[in-house]
Amino acid sequence: MTDTDRSDLLTAISSAIAAAPTGKSAMQQVVRLLKDAIPYYTWVGIYVVEGDELVLGPFLGKPSPHTRIPLGKGICGAAVTEMATIVVDDVNADPRYLACSIETKSEIVVPILRDGHALGEIDIDSDQPAAFGGRDRELLEPIAAMLADAWEDE
Ligand code: SME
Repeated sequence: MTDTDRSDLLTAISSAIAAAPTGKSAMQQVVRLLKDAIPYYTWVGIYVVEGDELVLGPFLGKPSPHTRIPLGKGICGAAVTEMATIVVDDVNADPRYLACSIETKSEIVVPILRDGHALGEIDIDSDQPAAFGGRDRELLEPIAAMLADAWEDE
């Protein structure tokens, strides 16, 4: 996918979020558009912070055993605790990693931040090693910011 294609994808996602009737629908559209557009995004999901846990919301890919993750656990928990994007080139070499599928080789987790706290996160796994880099951050961090703006508090 070229940089122009990624720019078009970001525009399409921005429009979809703006048109979505609910925050949940916005999340579903983001997951669908990302999964369909980028072949190495093997599993795409959004976790929502609820109390001291992350709860799995919309996702596409194989069902994950990790539908609830304590904030202190996993790469998912670390991204929320650190309030920063985490890229893991080799999940099997990271002691924090909670396995979702044996085919997964690398992962990116981008927190959805508002007013200095995390509302949730975008979690993407790839079956390719070291799949994620600067271009993925440049795509996903603006999407996380858009989701934060569209967020509906419970
Ligand atoms: N790998 C994540 C758990 C979620 S699954 O990838 C869907 C983690 O280590 O936190």
